[in-house]
Amino acid sequence: MDVAITGAAGYFGRKLIALMEKDEFYDRVVGISRRQWNHGFTKLEYHRMDVRDEGIKKLFEGVDAIIHLAFVVSPTHDKKEMYDIDVNGTRNVIEAGIEAGVKKFIITSSTMVYGAWEDNPEWLTEDSPKRGHPTYYYNKHKIMVEEVAEELLDEKNLVILRPCLVVGPSVSHFYVDLLKMPVLPLVDGRNPRMQFVHEDDVARAYDLALKKDARGVYNIVGESVVRWKEIIDMAGKKAVRMPRWLIRNLLKIAWWLHATKFPPEILDFVTYEWVASGEKAKRDLGFEPEHSSMEAILSYLQYRNSF
Ligand SMILES: NC(=O)c1ccc[n+]([C@@H]2O[C@H](COP(=O)([O-])OP(=O)(O)OC[C@H]3O[C@@H](n4cnc5c(N)ncnc54)[C@H](OP(=O)(O)O)[C@@H]3O)[C@@H](O)[C@H]2O)c1
Repeated sequence: MDVAITGAAGYFGRKLIALMEKDEFYDRVVGISRRQWNHGFTKLEYHRMDVRDEGIKKLFEGVDAIIHLAFVVSPTHDKKEMYDIDVNGTRNVIEAGIEAGVKKFIITSSTMVYGAWEDNPEWLTEDSPKRGHPTYYYNKHKIMVEEVAEELLDEKNLVILRPCLVVGPSVSHFYVDLLKMPVLPLVDGRNPRMQFVHEDDVARAYDLALKKDARGVYNIVGESVVRWKEIIDMAGKKAVRMPRWLIRNLLKIAWWLHATKFPPEILDFVTYEWVASGEKAKRDLGFEPEHSSMEAILSYLQYRNSF
């Protein structure tokens, strides 16, 4: 199979390409992102290109499936640019793929589309409403990305994967950077259940979605949950009870002053629960994560502490 991957040089683009490199099922991987990358993979044809570039269609010729990962994962203050890459970039990739005759699209969403809300059920399913916070670009754009995909693609050609937070030894995204803070809040004294999926498991989920010729929407999550306070303790940081109104206002000011990389909306994701069920992926894709949420977060913390 010939596969194109947007966001190829990113965190789990690299994991996925490493898996494909060793698997005879994959003949050729067309990787696309903007940075310079000296990779060393033999199956990979790497192209430096923006997902909004009209020329991307040429790269999709002869490709059987597109895995769309490109997205602005760490927020910036340029809302227009983030929207343009996330939403218009997705539209461009899908339209170009359709014109090039690609038959399968795996679009990357996130369990953040459900939003972190006090009245969320214990386990969110793929049918739960997408109540992502209206002011938080990440879940707002992920919901729009899903809508663009559903608008443009026949459902038999579309898979939407919604991973929860992905972690592992090679993780580098701004959510885990939270754990580098010396003090972390127990917002209003809450200690929510949290969920992680290991980076190797996520790569296997994409692989299974291609091999099983899947269609539809799937949560991709690690087994079980870990409490926020347990994570703070394991990270060796201090947990401090703080009222939500106070810390939210402090974060708002710091964000406005460009003095933090954490937008205020991120606070809700360590205040309320947004835990999703992985039953559908288990049943339809045969996706059984090898690492629990606890093992996934520990693999990151142990790796980090080894320096
Ligand atoms: N990490 C997680 O915990 C997590 C959880 C759920 C879902 N996801 C989703 O999984 C996907 C991959 O995430 P990740 O953690 O691997 O993030 P990442 O390391 O930031 O990767 C994002 C990739 O997108 C590329 N990109 C950004 N803007 C682009 C543009 N205009 N044109 C072409 N490429 C562009 C980046 O490369 P260049 O900057 O070089 O272009 C990079 O390769 C994202 O859609 C993310 O939302 C991640």
